[in-house]
Amino acid sequence: MRSPSFLLQRRPPLLLLLLSPWPVWAQAPTAAAPSGTPGARDCPEACACASGGQANCSGRELPAVPAGLSRSVRTLLLDHNRVRALPPGAFVGAGALLHLDLRGNGLHWVHPRAFWGLSALEQLDLSANQLEALAPGTFAPLRALRNLSMAGNRLARLEPAALGALPLLHELSLQDNELSALAPGVLAGLPALNALRLRGNPWACSCALRPLCMWLRRHPQPAPETETLLCVSPVSLTLRPLTAFPDAAFRHCAQSLAPRDLAVVYALGPLSFLASLAACLALGSVLTACRRRRAAAARRPPRRPPDPGPCSASPEDPGSPAAAAQA
Ligand SMILES: *[C@@H]1O[C@H](CO)[C@@H](O)[C@H](O)[C@H]1NC(C)=O
Ligand SMILES: *[C@@H]1O[C@H](CO)[C@@H](O)[C@H](O)[C@H]1NC(C)=O
Repeated sequence: MRSPSFLLQRRPPLLLLLLSPWPVWAQAPTAAAPSGTPGARDCPEACACASGGQANCSGRELPAVPAGLSRSVRTLLLDHNRVRALPPGAFVGAGALLHLDLRGNGLHWVHPRAFWGLSALEQLDLSANQLEALAPGTFAPLRALRNLSMAGNRLARLEPAALGALPLLHELSLQDNELSALAPGVLAGLPALNALRLRGNPWACSCALRPLCMWLRRHPQPAPETETLLCVSPVSLTLRPLTAFPDAAFRHCAQSLAPRDLAVVYALGPLSFLASLAACLALGSVLTACRRRRAAAARRPPRRPPDPGPCSASPEDPGSPAAAAQA
């Protein structure tokens, strides 16, 4: 009985959309740009637009992302131009973009907010550029991304925060860069990943490579090239394949803490601080109370010694008559 109620929930908006007297903007591509008409409505001036929302701006020596992008553009081919840098909001207006091709631009700088607004984008090709690093959060707006290529750049490091969490990412191409390791967090944010291309990087077979080796062993099929991934350093392990390292090979490496362990550590810190604070306070108040009582006792006049009457002799007194009687 689950699906009928689900369908009922979804039907009203669809009906509203169909019955709406206004033209729906999603229909714009077919209405707008006739095939291959540069400068047509909804088509950037420098490009040729085809039905189906493809804007072909390939190989036109463009120095920047062309102006005039609209929601009717679904595919933007910007490959083989001269776009060296992407400023913030470089693609505003193209919120319905699904496929963005930026290959071969000599791109060396991407502003962390360059991809803002591209929440529908599924495929992003940044290969054959000059990228050396990516700022944290660069890909954060791309929640629908399924295929990302950064092959053929100059990446020596890839911070987990640069990729962030990409829940749908299936395919990640990092071949032909300068990576020597992948930080553990990089793969942790990519739960749907099943193809990871890594060949052509100078892998250093050290503890830092552990998460990658574990991932490769758990995902053998989608990376047929895995067998060809070789260590470039240290010298003793040169040209050993990455997959040749069983978990045991990393036993000497310090265990990195799992998120749950980290949470325990973070919770225990403040808790133990509070507990020791409470213990100190309790101990302090007991000590002060003791000292006060002792001081009060010292101030009181000394008690009169008991009357040494004949009946008051203690039984312990060896010379007393009672002790003598006991003996
Ligand atoms: C894009 O346009 C160029 C010529 O400007 C052409 O060579 C290329 O095949 C076009 N690409 C696509 C996918 O239509
Ligand atoms: C993912 O992108 C790469 C590079 O753009 C391409 O070669 C590959 O075919 C794409 N994969 C899919 C499944 O579309």
